Amino acid sequence: MDPKDEIKQKMDIAELIGEYITLKPSGTDSFKGLCPFHNEKSPSFHVSTDRQIWHCFGCGEGGDCFSFVMKMEGMDFHEALVHLGKKLGIEIKRFASVEGNQKQRLITIHELASKFFHKVLVDSTQAVRARTYVESRGIPSELVTKFELGFAPDDWSALVDFLRKRSFSEAEILEAGLGLRRKSGSGLIDRFRNRLMIPLADQHGNVVGFTGRTMGDDQPKYMNSPETPIYHKGSLLYGLDLAKAFIKKEGRVVIVEGNLDVVASHKAGIQHVVASSGTALTEDQLTLLSRYTKTIVFSFDQDAAGLKAARKGIAIARSLGFDVRAAILPDGVKDPDELVQLNAEKWVDVANGSVPIMQFLIERMSRGRDMKNVDDKRAVSAELLPALSEIQDVIEREHWLQVIADLLSVDSSVLRASIQPVQIAPQSSNTSVVQPKKQERLSKEDTAFLILLGNFVNNPVVHLEDWQKLNEDLTLDEPSKRLYNIVVSTYDPSVNPAQKSFFERLRSVLECETSSEDLLHLLDKSSLLAEQTFDTMSPSLVQEQVTSLYNLLQTRNSSSRRSLLAAKLRQAEAAGNHEAVQQLMRELNESSLS
Ligand code: UTP
Ligand code: MN
Repeated sequence: MDPKDEIKQKMDIAELIGEYITLKPSGTDSFKGLCPFHNEKSPSFHVSTDRQIWHCFGCGEGGDCFSFVMKMEGMDFHEALVHLGKKLGIEIKRFASVEGNQKQRLITIHELASKFFHKVLVDSTQAVRARTYVESRGIPSELVTKFELGFAPDDWSALVDFLRKRSFSEAEILEAGLGLRRKSGSGLIDRFRNRLMIPLADQHGNVVGFTGRTMGDDQPKYMNSPETPIYHKGSLLYGLDLAKAFIKKEGRVVIVEGNLDVVASHKAGIQHVVASSGTALTEDQLTLLSRYTKTIVFSFDQDAAGLKAARKGIAIARSLGFDVRAAILPDGVKDPDELVQLNAEKWVDVANGSVPIMQFLIERMSRGRDMKNVDDKRAVSAELLPALSEIQDVIEREHWLQVIADLLSVDSSVLRASIQPVQIAPQSSNTSVVQPKKQERLSKEDTAFLILLGNFVNNPVVHLEDWQKLNEDLTLDEPSKRLYNIVVSTYDPSVNPAQKSFFERLRSVLECETSSEDLLHLLDKSSLLAEQTFDTMSPSLVQEQVTSLYNLLQTRNSSSRRSLLAAKLRQAEAAGNHEAVQQLMRELNESSLS
């Protein structure tokens, strides 16, 4: 069997999608939840296990298990095939494309390098001091293993030599960013030397880069891999591969600044945690997170720099519809790592006891300032008002406005006049959060048509007679007309309906057509609409409803036919074509009678 078909046959789409979003049963064989591809408050995202499809009535996106992971994980079709194949234990030749092949080589070289560094740290006599350092940071050996921490020896070309022996070319080592060209002479030297190595994994757990910490006072404190085809600093979140399942379970993610804060958190048992790696969160990173949760809890270091960098991330997170909160570290504690080494239980309390981000900002900004002093008041309001104006929800904004007004002892109307709510439009990017497509509002008749079509598609044997009553020259928009024609030409009563459902057959027909994506969406939509409409009705009630939908369509049909005839009639009269006038009058009369 074609691996694509095999995957489709074995996949439980609700289980797959349920790994990303919470689905609730809605009728037999279907589920609904909040759409991960656009912002919404009430669920319009539907999954049908019977048909193995998903469709969002809010933004119009939809498809099968492949299109879901392609959108969700930003994969191309082949990557989605490999990814789903792996889940189901179906082997698929990895990476057919040249580009895919190159990426795979880069991942392989990183995974090999990571194993090399790890082995050096654990076993080598060169790593005695590194092991002492790891111990001094309170990192137990289970976590050294879990995070595959390593050590890059104090040597010019230990890694390069190792990789060359494993038949990686100089070009590949350079491209991976693991080696640098010697200033003089030929050959490469190691980029990372005498550093504690932290492998950076993407959300699937592939090692795509490294950050290496000095164990002394060398600069920089952390040396990072350069940007490569597989590593983009601004889109990776450290720890996400391990955190994914826990984020879903906890319904939130804790964001810390440092990689070792993530390691320390795991030591304390907090596993729904990722690191932003010391910079402001980007839209790419937030979009990635939005696949797993809509609640983020920031834990900022106690220095002002961290907070300043975070402000932009907070604004983007708000504009993407996240609920943004803060976990407040006790005074005098620099970061989560320090807190865990002091008192791990306390970090658990702090991480779980978050407060709304505005409350945190108000406390942080007013700390050490005198609210009776006019300069301090001005400074505090200058820092808080921009954050206030970013709040999209009026009620929430008013709430914090009142709190700030009380703090500054000014009238709230004065403050209100000085802020202007801003809409932060997310920068456009190639990420998977889409602006909902403009959904045309369907007329009663268009909806009736889609329901009838879906009903036939879902149950061709039962509803064949009704279907045949539909007039050939239905007044339909272009896509509906195309879909209608495909349904008519695909229907073959001689095919045993038990073998393969008509719906599936139609989908495979459409998948072979060019530019048929809209039609696939329309087919899914009509099938789901019909299911929702008729799901809980008795057969006789279904029949009654179907009949009245047909009547609705026929009425529109004949009225549009009449206006067409009337227009032709006027033309014929103007042209003085008596014969045509007579003929058209007759047709018009007949159509009024029917
Ligand atoms: P911090 O300076 O707060 O370091 O930088 P830290 O995580 O507390 O590290 P330790 O505890 O001293 O080992 C936070 C993050 O910023 C990035 C790293 O990802 C670091 O984890 N960073 C920092 C760099 O990329 N380069 C640097 O030189 C410093
Ligand atoms: Mn630290």
